[in-house]
Amino acid sequence: MKIAIGNDHVGLDYKNEIKKYIEEKYGYEVINYGTDSKDRFDYPIAGEAVAQAVVSGQADRGILICGTGVGIGLAANKVNGIRCVTCSEPYSALLSRQHNNTNVLSFGARVVGIELAKMIVDAWLGGQFEGGRHQRRIDMLRDIEKKQGKEN
Ligand code: RB5
Repeated sequence: MKIAIGNDHVGLDYKNEIKKYIEEKYGYEVINYGTDSKDRFDYPIAGEAVAQAVVSGQADRGILICGTGVGIGLAANKVNGIRCVTCSEPYSALLSRQHNNTNVLSFGARVVGIELAKMIVDAWLGGQFEGGRHQRRIDMLRDIEKKQGKEN
C-alpha cells in the first residue's frame, strides 16, 4: 500500500508524525507531497498534488493535513475521482471507507490532538468498502462528474 501525504505549513509537524506512525505501524510507503517548511504555503497545492497522485495510481490513497483539514480537503475534492472525507473523529473516518469508499482523508492540526489524529488514521486505514447498495451511490457521484464533462 502506498499512501500520498500532503500538508501546508500548519500541518507540517503532524505530517511528519503521521508519516512516521504509518511507516512504523503498517510498513506502508508514505510519499510526501507537502511542504517541509513552516513558511506560508497555500493548501490547494498539496491538496491537488495528493489527489493527482491517487487518481493517477502513483498512490493507493491520500492523507492531507492543514489547519482545519477543510481547505486542503476541498482542493482534493475538486479533482475528479477523489472522494475526500474531512473529519475529526474515528467513526466518520471508518464509515467513510465502508459506505463512501473515500480515497483521501483530511484533518486539521488545529482541531484534533495528535493521538486522536492517529486513531482517525487507524480507523480510516482499517475500513473496507462494503460495496452493494453503497456502490450504486458511488456511481451516482461519478454521474455528477460526468454531467459536468469532467470525468477522469
Ligand atoms: C492557514 O492559515 C489555514 O487557513 C489552513 O491551514 C487551513 O486551515 C485552511 O483550510
